[in-house]
Amino acid sequence: NSKATMIVVSNRLPFILKRDENGVLQRKASAGGLVTAVAPVVIRGQGNWVGWPGIHLEDPNEKIPESDPNDKTPTAGLRSEKIVPIRAEPKLFDSYYNGCCNGTFWPLFHSMPDRATFIADHWKAYIKINEEFAEKTVHALHLLNKQKKDKNGSPPIVWVHDYHLMLAANWIRQRAEEDEIKCKLAFFLHIPFPPWDIFRLFPWSDEVLQGILGCDMVGFHIEDYCLNFIDCCQRNLGCRVDRKNLLVELGDRTICVRPLPIGVPYERFVQLAQNAKPVFSTSQKVILGVDRLDYTKGLVHRLKAFERLLEKHPEHIEKVVLLQISVPSRTDVKEYQDLKEEMDQLVGRINGRFTTPNWSPIRYIYGCVGQDELAAFYRDAAVALVTPLRDGMNLVAKEFVACQINKPPGVLIVSPFAGAGEMMHEALICNPYELDDAAEVIHRALIMPEDERTVRMNHLRRREQLNDVDSWMKAFLKAMDSLEEEADDLG
Ligand code: UDP
Ligand code: G6P
Repeated sequence: NSKATMIVVSNRLPFILKRDENGVLQRKASAGGLVTAVAPVVIRGQGNWVGWPGIHLEDPNEKIPESDPNDKTPTAGLRSEKIVPIRAEPKLFDSYYNGCCNGTFWPLFHSMPDRATFIADHWKAYIKINEEFAEKTVHALHLLNKQKKDKNGSPPIVWVHDYHLMLAANWIRQRAEEDEIKCKLAFFLHIPFPPWDIFRLFPWSDEVLQGILGCDMVGFHIEDYCLNFIDCCQRNLGCRVDRKNLLVELGDRTICVRPLPIGVPYERFVQLAQNAKPVFSTSQKVILGVDRLDYTKGLVHRLKAFERLLEKHPEHIEKVVLLQISVPSRTDVKEYQDLKEEMDQLVGRINGRFTTPNWSPIRYIYGCVGQDELAAFYRDAAVALVTPLRDGMNLVAKEFVACQINKPPGVLIVSPFAGAGEMMHEALICNPYELDDAAEVIHRALIMPEDERTVRMNHLRRREQLNDVDSWMKAFLKAMDSLEEEADDLG
């Protein structure tokens, strides 16, 4: 299946477009692991990528630029004619992206319903933009179909990603069926799928399930999310389900549900760590946090746990620093603006309380760090604190482990409420809500003997090396290949 033709449909394209000082469009590459794994498959099969370019393109005829000849990133080979940009009216797009995606689905699916807004106009915008994505995808399918007319190859795979596009698949299926175009449809959710009693709070929850069930295969990071989804299909829609084989029946179709935990480009991070210059000039131990500034990441709890550590274990004063990198994110949404304020104040208060003439406990970067530099942070940190309140997977935990090439290594602390916490058993597990315990776990990490650190880290590294992002991609393609056999299981 390595030659499968694939159309990827995701809210963001694998790069963003920016205008230079002369108003000329330029690509700004994305270095994410998902893009690294998926882009080569799209390029190899001469497929397409449908998505939002990050800016509003007013002129419908304006062409997407080719990549810079010096661009060595995985998307460089994605030719402009293969890119299908979404050109939505800015107000409508805002209601869809800031309103419905990030104001409703993001908090709800992270089981934080009190932060979610349920606004009919946002939902309408979500429907419209999903239709636009579906429309563009069907158009791309038509073009592919024309090019491949005389060949008997397997049908193209349409792979829809994430909570922004939960309705698109069903429309793509319907339109493709009407137009007699064959394709296999898959959906992958990069965030948690919540339990039924949370999911049902969304007033239009049936439509969301029907949208996703337009696919032949639905993937989640872990089995818990698969089972939540299956539960919702059964309880909302009355579908026949098979929990053992993870199947859902809707009408005359059987949909496979699969846990496909994503990995990171492990060897790339090892190389980055090998090549990166040291960045810490301090002799103090560095406790590292790396997150988008998002309320799901448990940043307020984390700072308070660190404060508790300094209260309860003053022996660490002047010996450790917390380096927290907080990447600005979704800054048009009020919840994110409020969090920024709260964090600024909290950092100021804790630093004000503990700083000595020669030392401050927290170094706080509000900005994005390139992955070369990040690799040095990961490599040289004594402890990584990955303590989200809820997180679909969390790649930072995995990247940290990949970069731990120093001997003796550091310690990973991970929350059980992240997908990553489900499988990284040799990490120290920390419930971010329990401040005293969190402080004790950090203490334990700081004083952990070298041999224990080594044994734990060796196991963690081996697992991530085996289950890197390429093996995730292969597992996905294999699951798509075996769809027909699986569907027979429900009888
Ligand atoms: N990241 C980055 N620069 C930064 C901070 C983070 O490139 O300054 C990257 C990081 O390497 C990781 C991603 O952002 O690949 C964050 O992924 P994760 O799954 O941890 O969280 P998400 O932001 O998807 O919720
Ligand atoms: C999470 C989501 C992605 C999203 C990313 C950044 O990882 O699963 O779909 O792209 O956050 O958020 P943004 O809103 O900037 O795309």
